[in-house]
Amino acid sequence: MINNEITKKKVFVETYGCQMNEYDSELVKAILEKKEYAFVKDEREADVVMLNTCAIRENAHRKIYGRVHQIRHERSGKPVMIGLLGCMATNLRQNLLNDRQLKIDFIAGPDSYKRLPDLISHAQETGEKTFDLTLSEFETYSDIFPKREGMINAWIAVMRGCNNFCTFCVVPYTRGRERSRTVANVVAESQQIANQGAKQITLLGQNVNSYHCDGQDFADLINAVSEIEGIERIRFTSPHPKDFPEKLLKTIAQNKKVCKHIHLPLQAGSNRILDLMNRTYTREEFLDLVNKIRDLISNVALTTDIIIGFPTETDAEFDETVDMMEKVRFDSAFIFKYSEREGTIAQRKYPDDIHDAIKTERIVKLNEIQKGIAHQKNLAHIGETLELLMERDATADDPFSKGRTDSNKLVHVQGSFPVGSFVKATITAASPQNLRGAALNKLLI
Ligand code: 5AD
Ligand code: SF4
Repeated sequence: MINNEITKKKVFVETYGCQMNEYDSELVKAILEKKEYAFVKDEREADVVMLNTCAIRENAHRKIYGRVHQIRHERSGKPVMIGLLGCMATNLRQNLLNDRQLKIDFIAGPDSYKRLPDLISHAQETGEKTFDLTLSEFETYSDIFPKREGMINAWIAVMRGCNNFCTFCVVPYTRGRERSRTVANVVAESQQIANQGAKQITLLGQNVNSYHCDGQDFADLINAVSEIEGIERIRFTSPHPKDFPEKLLKTIAQNKKVCKHIHLPLQAGSNRILDLMNRTYTREEFLDLVNKIRDLISNVALTTDIIIGFPTETDAEFDETVDMMEKVRFDSAFIFKYSEREGTIAQRKYPDDIHDAIKTERIVKLNEIQKGIAHQKNLAHIGETLELLMERDATADDPFSKGRTDSNKLVHVQGSFPVGSFVKATITAASPQNLRGAALNKLLI
């Protein structure tokens, strides 16, 4: 046993980007631990360092190039194998393979993680850069139980890939076509997660609400997972506004375990830009959906993603985005500058013609407006008593524990409360980012 541990190669994995990448790193750990690998928390101890990369916005690849050089420099000539995983691998395949300055040993795309043990051994034996960047129509990793850490919330990918081809987005190219796992398979894994003590499950997918398998849809999946004892909260991300049939909205409204929070990416407020983005809805249809959601699901929190400065966006069209933000009043928003991505439809069809100074002006303005809205929305919670799932206990340096409401707002509560417990707190103060509450000092679970 001891010998075995010593001969195991030590691996460190560093994750960039979205929750799907976090989940994938957990899959990679499970895949490699079945072979002769052990994971370490300190990169300096590792024989193999893997960077699970993102390609969704600018700077991602510069950051990774810099990081590879930094790791090599820190080792100052001592051997370490470095591998790139994730979306940047499939997005920049030729550049990565041909770039002699980039000292990496192996590359694996999001559908090739089961081949990692072979890729690493092959690179070691031959000294050549090895890679597998094939995209699969079928791979869902449904036979791998990820090695999860911190079991209060567990991610579980229920579908992978995307068929929407929003013109700005690399995901359909880096992660391939949509495919879903069976309900039975997701339920079986969720049951195991519950047995290990998880309280919350977050169902993941690039386009999670287009989940469908063997005649069952996303609402059926949510209902099936909610039957599992021990799972108290169900979240999901990221959905597309086009896939919210009434059945799904009613499920979210009626199923007590489903958190009343919907992330609803708007992207832009002008119909012309939405069309250029291939979002498949108009501002009017989006507003109708928001009204329907708010009618059916009381106290629902809505959050969004916005891209400003898409090619040809005029000042007047940007103002339409501002107008939508003021009309909808999201609880919070991620606002991004448009960033041209290799291989996308927008890159081929629309030159990135909005000057960075204008993008900066627009993003600053929109963030300011959204901050005001978020603050007002948070202030409206003062006096309410809300149930929190605790995520972080107080420490010697920070006397506040942190927990999240059903609507996904972070609440700071004075005193120590165990991670994973449910606490009721009366909201006493609010900032644009979070809330402060006084616990009723009663542990519910
Ligand atoms: N430029 C800027 N933002 C982008 N996003 C996706 N692609 C781009 C891009 N090329 C944003 C979208 C998406 C979120 C995950 O990232 O808003 O919803
Ligand atoms: Fe990208 Fe659009 Fe698919 Fe989301 S729905 S992953 S933004 S192509």
